Formats: sequence, C-alpha cells, structure tokens
Amino acid sequence: MNPNDGKYSRPLWAEVDLDKLRGNVATIRRYLKPETKILGVIKANAYGHGIVEVGETLSKEGIETLGVASLNEALALKKKRVKSEILILGYSHEDFSDEIVANDIAQTVGYEFQINALAKAARKLKKRAKVHVKIDTGMTRMGCLPEDAHELITKALGNRNIETKGIYTHFARADEINGVYTKKQYYQFKRIIDDFEKVLKGVDIHCSNSAAVLNFPEYQEDMVRIGIALLGNYPAFQVANPLPLKPVFSLKTRVVEVKKVPPSTGVGYSHRHRTTNNVKIAVIPVGYADGYSTLLSNRGEVLVKGRRYPVVGQVSMDFATFECPPDSDVEIHDEVTLLGRDNGKEISLYEMASWMRCPIYEALCLMGPRIERRYINSKETSKKPGKSSSSKKLKRSKYAK
Ligand SMILES: Cc1ncc(COP(=O)(O)O)c(C=O)c1O
Repeated sequence: MNPNDGKYSRPLWAEVDLDKLRGNVATIRRYLKPETKILGVIKANAYGHGIVEVGETLSKEGIETLGVASLNEALALKKKRVKSEILILGYSHEDFSDEIVANDIAQTVGYEFQINALAKAARKLKKRAKVHVKIDTGMTRMGCLPEDAHELITKALGNRNIETKGIYTHFARADEINGVYTKKQYYQFKRIIDDFEKVLKGVDIHCSNSAAVLNFPEYQEDMVRIGIALLGNYPAFQVANPLPLKPVFSLKTRVVEVKKVPPSTGVGYSHRHRTTNNVKIAVIPVGYADGYSTLLSNRGEVLVKGRRYPVVGQVSMDFATFECPPDSDVEIHDEVTLLGRDNGKEISLYEMASWMRCPIYEALCLMGPRIERRYINSKETSKKPGKSSSSKKLKRSKYAK
C-alpha cells in the first residue's frame, strides 16, 4: 500500500527509465545464446523499481518467465494480465496452494510435502500445479539437498497433478571470477539432471543469475534468471563487464531550505558535523525513512548542476543536509541528484552502496514507498496518435511502492 495515496507533497522522486530497461533486455539477448530463455527476476517490487511497470515492460519485450518473491507479487502481475509465466522463487505456506494453482502461478518446491499440497489443490481444482524443483547445491538456503534430489524430481515428474516446469539451483559465489565453487555447484547440479535427460521435455533447467551469466556464460542451460543486470547494473565490481548496460533507476529531490552559517556551527542531531568555515547548508527532504540511510551521514555526496557536495551531519528520518561554499549558486528549489546522472557527472549505485557499506541490491531495495516513482516510457507515448515517438512520457504510478 502506498502511504502517499498519490500525493507526493515532498519533492522526492525516482526516475525509472523503462526505455533503458528495454535497451538492457536487447543488450542481454544479443549476448546470450539465441535459444536461451530469460526469467526476469523482479522480486521485492522489482528491486524497488515497481513490479507492475517493470513486469509489464519485460513481458511485452517477450521475457518468457517472471520470478517474484511471494504470492502477493505474483497476483499483482496477474491482476494486470501480464502474459509471461510467473514463478514464485520464494516460500509460500501450503495454505495458499489453492490460490497459487487457481491462478496458474508456478511455485518453487524443495520438499515432498510442498508437492503434495499443490497436487491436492490441483486435484480439487481439476488443474495441474506448476512447479520448479529447487536443489540446494551449496547456497545452504532454499531447496532440497543433492542426496534427496533424485527422489524429489522423480516424485514431481511422476505426479499427474503436477506439471514440472523447471529444475534449478542457485549459485552462492558466482560474482567471484575464480569460479572454483561455482563450477563445483554446476557439476553437482548437472550430475543430478543428467539422470533424467530422457524425460525432461518441457522442463527448463536453470542455474545462472546475472553474475553467472556474465562470468560463466557457458552455464546458460535452458534459461537464465536475471535481475540486477536487466536493471542496468553489474552485480559487483569484480564481475566482468562485457555489456553496455544502462542503470534504470535514479533518485532526485529538491533543495527546500538554504542557510548561510558561520564557522563552528553544529549541524543536525548530536551535531555530528561542525562547520569549519562560512558555508551554506542546504536542506533536502530525504531521510532514512525513505531508505536514505544514516550510513550516508558525513559520507554521502549529492550533485547539483553537475557539482558534487558532501552530505554533512546525521541523516534524519525525513531530512538530510549538504554543505556548499558560501558563494555557491545552490538555491532553494534546485534539483538535487542523490543517485544517477546530472550534467555529465554521476553518483553511481556502487558509490552509494559503498558509502552505505551494503550490497547494491540492498541500496535499491531500501528505496521506500514515500519516494514517488516516475516512469519514462517513450513507447507508451508513441502509441498515442498525434504524439511524436521521440517525446518521452513521464508517468506517475499508483502501484509503485
Ligand atoms: C533464486 C534467484 N535467482 C536469481 C536471482 C537474480 O539475481 P541477480 O539479480 O543477481 O541476477 C535471485 C536474486 O536474488 C534469486 O534469488
């Protein structure tokens, strides 16, 4: 639920560029083998980008399957009649089996009781339950252990109320160029799959996330599960960068107050910053309640008219402050870039995540519901008669969380 109810009285917005998303799809498709299918991972509200808008765009681009975290997310896509197959990558309690099957949603399973619950729902509804069997080859998280995999796959394939759509594993260390562990996981997975070679028609085998696709393209199998790369980011610094991906998300605000203060002025809670000169302190309406972490206090930077300024003082719940020289041209209402490009300069997601000492994924997922999402989508504009195809449309979304 969006607490703003469509009223964004604070100037704080994300620009989510669906044109760039489409560009990234094309770039990744060119890089993959022509026969490799893509499962677009859009869980956690498409890593904060907006699950409906990103899901609809990917589906229209022909992405075969969309991976979500929960039944709620799957239903949000179903409600919008998104055509791609939908797979819940996460856990769903058995009590929700009826709803999963009734809506033709595929569920990840790692245990027999999960298969049984879905099969029971399918019998009742006179349908077949779609599943992807997950094998834990070394992440030590979700999925059955390799020694139990043969029996579980046999049960899934042999149950006439179950349609086994996929079998997969997840790499724990695919961002390491030294692929020793990834290789070990891959061959363990392959050994299990090979036993079923003759009965896997219509079953997609998949193991690679973005890092694996970039570092180990030979492990593509039938399908790859890509999240962060579709959104234009490399999973980590050390991942090989063979593709011109473009970040889809940027974060902006406006200066709401500027004050000139003398040296030795304490700024913000606990006066964690004290000015050393005559300076201007600019106030921006973004705080940790928006996902702009307190870890950015005295560490982050912002861009105004292509110039960088340091975030000073402690980031508070709804506000942050940055410091500029007394003669700088920073004024009230000026646009401030917190993440993304401005006049040829950039605050990158890697930089922001390093200030926050967290993975880039976390920095994106923390972007909260109080941030308005504005969608850039020239394709939507071009469909309307009388509008030029080059003019870009900024759409504000009710669904952005
Ligand atoms: C099971 C699974 N597959 C694929 C992905 C996609 O990972 P990435 O965004 O690094 O491509 C995720 C994301 O966490 C995941 O949990």
